[in-house]
Parts: sequence; structure tokens; C-alpha cells
Amino acid sequence: MTKLQPVRGTRDLLDLRLLHYKAIQSIADETATLYGYAPIETPIFEYTSVFTKPLGETSDIVGKEMYTFNDRGGESITLRPEGTAPVVRAIMSEGLTQTLPQRRILQGPMFRYERPQKGRYRQFYQISIECVGITTYHADVEVISMAHDFLSRIGVKNSVLHLNTLGDMESRLNYRTALIAYFEQHKEKLSEDSRIRLEKNPLRILDSKDPDDKALCVKAPKLNAYLNTSSSEFFEKICLALKALGIKYHIDENLVRGMDYYCHTVFEFKSADLGAQDTLLGGGRYDGLMEQMGGPSMPAVGWACGLDRLALLKTDLKITIPTPIACIIPFSEEQEKEAMILAQHLRTANISSEILTQSNIGKRLKAAVKKGALYAVIIGEDEVKTGKYTVKDLKAKEDSFEKELLLDIESLISHVQN
Ligand code: HAM
Repeated sequence: MTKLQPVRGTRDLLDLRLLHYKAIQSIADETATLYGYAPIETPIFEYTSVFTKPLGETSDIVGKEMYTFNDRGGESITLRPEGTAPVVRAIMSEGLTQTLPQRRILQGPMFRYERPQKGRYRQFYQISIECVGITTYHADVEVISMAHDFLSRIGVKNSVLHLNTLGDMESRLNYRTALIAYFEQHKEKLSEDSRIRLEKNPLRILDSKDPDDKALCVKAPKLNAYLNTSSSEFFEKICLALKALGIKYHIDENLVRGMDYYCHTVFEFKSADLGAQDTLLGGGRYDGLMEQMGGPSMPAVGWACGLDRLALLKTDLKITIPTPIACIIPFSEEQEKEAMILAQHLRTANISSEILTQSNIGKRLKAAVKKGALYAVIIGEDEVKTGKYTVKDLKAKEDSFEKELLLDIESLISHVQN
């Protein structure tokens, strides 16, 4: 038996929900254009190596969540769990490292094998912004203010920007040593996963969802104390610029983000209106990623926003399902050809038209009203003979003399257009 429900953690999108997604996506595109970001589309699957090292072997995504399989040629393939590594891969494969900076927007589905719940799906949609090739803090400020602008254009209220810095490599190595020393003292209280993280990547412990790990993290050393001067100054400039732009933020010293590719700035916009999955949008700087993937050393910063989460929030968007302008009702089978020809004429004049052929005339008229059509055009024998159609104005008052008219094609088109 064919299973008719979609796979757990995936959904069919239609009607209002789909229109809502599309409306948000087009605001994202408009905002991106205002900031000089050009669209890019990458394949939905990539060679697995595009993700494993860049995201980090100890990250939840690589460790537990990727949809990875061998294709028929024996290549290890992964459905993209995120868009940053694919965009960086594409910039290299398309030879775009010669034309920097690259400002790109990527929109589309991503796949992670996570436990589904409200705001968390196995196929979900991201709007991803990547600015590649700018070393200075201006790029960080640009992408953060663009995120802020995008959310306010949609009308998202109550979102809070959480901000932190991971510093440069030197700062992180010093911090790593301090973290190892701290967690070694409490090793027996750490979750099994975090004991592995302690060996491979102790910073990841700060991102653990385990309650005991979280309790230990409260008293863990803070990265702030291990930042070298240049890293602190870099972060300071970003904070000052955000203040100047009137963008409020909250410094969150435990914010490390889920992938290994980040350095310096990391940030998230969270909304208390979302429940447990409260991160709407997250991103940061990833200067080492391109080099790690075999390319040149390349500064970069960006973010991704979860469309499914955004669509759960109350926004200013007014979404309505489009309704046909005219419903054409042929009296019997003989007039169906005439109905098809009339519908084509109307559509050529940009008047949306549907032909209704099922059940009796009364029911079809009711169906036209239910669809929200403005006019019903009835075609019977006489109409075909005279070339004049009975046009019912479905929105006119009962006693209006325009409630029912006899019109030929040209008059019908100009009547509707007026
Ligand atoms: P991320 O934090 O893993 O970052 O994902 C960004 C956003 O995608 C999250 O804030 C959330 O809204 C949404 N999201 C993630 N997982 C799910 C899920 N299972 N269901 C629904 N929504 C989800 C990244 O993906 C990075 N590539 C962001 C980035 C771009 N960093 C630099 N450039």
C-alpha cells in the first residue's frame, strides 16, 4: 500500500501557507536587492565532504542529522543541511573568487534529521545571505542591519538580537585550553556526547542541549577574558556601529552557534513568541571556511533565516488567495467549445477565467459565488447564435440594473476592465 502521508518532519505547502512563504521570500529578495545581493541557486545535494569538515565532525548536524546516502555510482551524497558551505563551494567552482566581494542570497529547502516539533522540521526552508570577500567589520554590520531591516519589513515584533564574538584563532586556542582545564575537573558530570566533545572540540560543549552540561556551562570560563586586542577591537567596532544605526542587541557570552566554521562575530535573532525553537535567524563570520574547503584564504560573513519559523509569527503581511474574475458556465455540452474560446479571449485580456462544467446551472452559480468570482458568464444556445453572453455581476446589489447584462466579447472585456 502506498503511504499517503508525507514523511515525518515534512509537509505539503499549499494555499494560504504557501502564499505566506512566497510573500516572505519576495520581501527577502527585495531587501537583498536593496543591499546589492544577487541571487544564487545551488543543487539540493552535494558531495558529503562539502559539509563534513566545514561544519565539524562533532557538530550535531554532521554527527546526527545529515541525510547521507551512496548514489548508484557509489558517491557519498548529502541533502544540503544548510546553505553556507554550498555557496562557498559554488563561488569557487564558478571562478567567482576573481570578482570580489560576492554578495549572494540563496533561498530553498534544507534537510536535517531532527526530532520534529513546532518550528522544527526535517525539510525546512531557509533564506540565506552570504557576503564573501570583505575583511573589515563593515560587512558584519551590513549583514546584521540587513537582517534587522528584513525582519522589520515583514513586521516581526519582539525579536531580540543576541550577539557574541568567538575571536580569532589565537584567542580561541587560548580559550580552548582554559575550557579543557575547567571541564576536565567536572568530567564525570558531563554527558557522554560532551565527553567526546571535550576530546575533539571543547567549544561545542557550550552548545549542548543536555541540562547537566548546560548547568556546568554557566560557570565555565568566558571567551571574553581570552580575546586578544585585535579581536576585542574588531568586536567593539561592530557594537559601536550597531548603536549608531539604532539596532539594539544583547551580548550573549554563551552563544557559540552550531557549526565549526565560525570565528569573530556570531549572532542570532530570537523571538519569545516562538516557544522552544525560538531562533529565527542565525549567522556569523566564517573567514576560514573557503581555505578549509581547498580554496584561498577568504573573509566572509552571513546568516540564514528559518522561513517556517518566520511564518509562525504574527506579521503585517496581508495574504489573500487569488479569486477568478469570471466563471464561465456553458449551459450544456454543446456550448463547451464556445466557453473554452471565450475563456482564452478573456485570459488574453488579463482577465482570469475558470470554466465550470460540473452539475446543474444553479449549483454552478453558487460555486462561482463561493470561489469569490466577480462575474458569471452564461453561454446557452441563444448566446452562441447572437454572440452575446448573459453576464451576471455576482457582487452587484439584487435590484441593480447592471445585475444581469447581455454583452458581446468586446463589451464584456471593456465592462470587466472598467
Ligand atoms: P542555522 O542556525 O543552523 O545556521 O540555521 C539558521 C536558521 O534556520 C535557524 O535560525 C532556524 O530559524 C532555521 N532552522 C534550522 N534548523 C531548522 C529546522 N530543523 N526546522 C526549521 N527551521 C530550522 C545556518 O544554517 C548557517 N548556514 C547560517 C549562516 C549563513 N551562517 C553564515 N552564513
